[in-house]
Order: sequence, then structure tokens, then C-alpha cells
Amino acid sequence: MIQNNIQLQTLNTLKLPCIAQYYAEITNSTELLQALDFCHQHNLKPVILSGGSNVLLPSKLNTLVIKMAIQGIDVIDESSDEVVICVGAGQNWHEFVLYSTEKKWYGLQNLALIPGLVGASPVQNIGAYGVEVGEFIDAVEVYDRQKKQFSVLKAFQCHFAYRHSIFKEDPARYIITSVTFKLKKQPDLRLAYGDLTQAVGEQKTPENLQTQVIAIRQSKLPNPKEYPNAGSFFKNPIITQSEYDLLNHNYPTMPKYPQADGRVKVAAGWLIDQVGWKGKRLEKVGMFAKQALVLVNYEDANLKDVQKTYQTVQFDVQQKFSIHLEPEPVLFDETGHICLHTA
Ligand code: EPU
Repeated sequence: MIQNNIQLQTLNTLKLPCIAQYYAEITNSTELLQALDFCHQHNLKPVILSGGSNVLLPSKLNTLVIKMAIQGIDVIDESSDEVVICVGAGQNWHEFVLYSTEKKWYGLQNLALIPGLVGASPVQNIGAYGVEVGEFIDAVEVYDRQKKQFSVLKAFQCHFAYRHSIFKEDPARYIITSVTFKLKKQPDLRLAYGDLTQAVGEQKTPENLQTQVIAIRQSKLPNPKEYPNAGSFFKNPIITQSEYDLLNHNYPTMPKYPQADGRVKVAAGWLIDQVGWKGKRLEKVGMFAKQALVLVNYEDANLKDVQKTYQTVQFDVQQKFSIHLEPEPVLFDETGHICLHTA
């Protein structure tokens, strides 16, 4: 089951070269326990790899990489208005969204075409076009490494917030094995974000909403097969109202998303664009020309090349706006520990 010296370049969407000393693909709970046992015996810290669309990998990982590949889509409860579906962590996210729409299960249409697998969707509470996945999650099934048992976290226990969850607070504790969604049988379209209402037009159906979301994403975001990337590279920073007021005085066109707690979310893509990084490259790595928030590996870059570019972008935004941009992808060191991004 455990393989040696596996190249992970095709298993991360930024296509960073990385040799895993040990590698195991997991399709059920028994295999997961065997892999964890191997780590225990060899005193290794495992790296859990899902779709590889939100990771920054070093050139070597001297540990066991566990690739989550548990499949399955099972309806576990159904009423006249709702359906509860348990989905294996290894199912492809976009394919599951398409399947749910075909089945006339509604809620996830705004989240079409997000790269990655179902098991990673709760980790950073993936969100797009005014919807976050946490709103449609009923529970997350996990292996709890602290308690050494499989358990279930109900949605309220997951601490979902913007690009945040308990799985980010305590990344070494839980391994997600499946996610249970509660979807609606009646359409409830969420069109408030940006120009979505206009894009959807008169045909206000979930199917058309999904089609329009796919079209918008395809028009702005690079296809990872052509331009290796990790989606939005930075989180949209959340600042205080008074910080915003100061900036808005000098930059009246700065986009603003007021938050429930009185703070203001600002668009990282706009900030990066304003400092001249849209479509600009530093050697092998640059920010995409149609959406400045997406970092692209143009030419066989490694982690060091990526760091050089994003740290320069962070520096330039800090200089001009006094705002720190926090990268979204998770950064690993060679022993498999998650590290902080240094500015
Ligand atoms: N903007 C610019 N220049 C750019 C990019 C954006 O001026 O190069 C401005 C836009 O004009 C707009 C604002 O920034 O006024 C926001 O842009 P957009 O609507 O494209 O969304 P975003 O904030 O850049 C977020 C998510 C995306 C998600 C979209 C749509 C984050 C970090 N990113 O991007 O998520 O698809 O909203 O909901 O929250 C992802 O996480 O990988 C991702 C793509």
C-alpha cells in the first residue's frame, strides 16, 4: 500500500515539484488507520493531500503523504423539501455540484467549477458568488487524531466563517473522511453577488445560475491545466471601518464588502491590481492578467520561485495601502508541518 519516492507535481494544481518519501492512496477507513499506524511506527507527521488545489509544497516531503480518495455519494435522508447526502472526501467537488443540479438538489450551484475535492470543501469553507459551503453542510465525518477515533462534527461545531473552520484552527487533529450536505428541493437562487443577477437574466433557474457561474469563472480564472494556479492566492483582507475610511478618502473607488461585525472586507485583487501586479511576472511566477488575485506558475517554478513573487506582491501592497495580504494556500515544511507564511 505504501509507495516510496513519489513525485507529487501532477497532484498539486500549482504543479510544484515535490518528492514524497512515502505515499499512500486511501479509499476506506481501514487503509487510513493502517497509514496512520505506519506514521506512528516511524515517528512521522503525515501530510493529508486532497485535490492539491490549495497547497504549497516544498521540493521534498520526508514523511508519508496520505492522498484521500474515498468515494461514494449516498442519500441518507429525504423529505419533501430537503435531501441529506453523504459524500466521500475523495469525490471531485465540481462533478458533485453538477450531479446535485442534475438530481434537482439545490444550493451548491454558485460553487460550480471550484477546483478540488469534497473533503477539502469544509476546511477553508469554500465560497463564491455570495454562497459559502458551510451553509449547506449538515455534518463532517472525521478521524479525530487526538481522541484516536472516528467521529462526527455537526455544522455548528465546525466554526465556519469566511475562508475559515475548525479544520484550520487545529489542522493536525481531524482527517475528513466524508461530508454530509443538506440540500433543498425547491430552488432558492442567490443572485446578490456582483453582476450575477444581470448574467442570469430572465431565466431564473438553478440550472441557468450554474451555467452563468461557470461562464463567469471561465472568463476570469485561468484553467489550471493551461496555467498552473491555486485559485485566489490571497484572502480578501478584513479591516476596521476607520482603517477603511482613511483609505477610501484617497481611493474612493475601492470595492467594499461590509461585514456583520462592523468591519469591512476589501478586495485583494483590487489592491494587487492597483500596485501594478495584474498581468505582471517576476521570473517564472506572476499574477494573472484577467484576475490579479490568482498567482500563476508560468514556467516550471518551485516553491522558492512562488515565494519570491508572492512576498514581493505582499511587500508592494503593504507599502502602498498598509494592508497585509494573507496567502490562502497551506504551506508545508519538509517534515510535513504546516508553517506560517513569512512576509
Ligand atoms: N478586482 C480588480 N482587479 C482584479 C481583480 C478584482 O479591480 O484583478 C476587483 C473587481 O473589480 C471587484 C473586486 O475586486 O470589484 C472583487 O473581485 P471578484 O468579484 O472577481 O472577486 P474576488 O474578491 O477577487 C472572491 C473569491 C473567489 C470567488 C469570487 C466570486 C476570495 C479570496 N476569493 O474573489 O474565490 O470566486 O470572490 O465570489 O474570497 C478562490 O477562492 O479560489 C476563488 C476564486
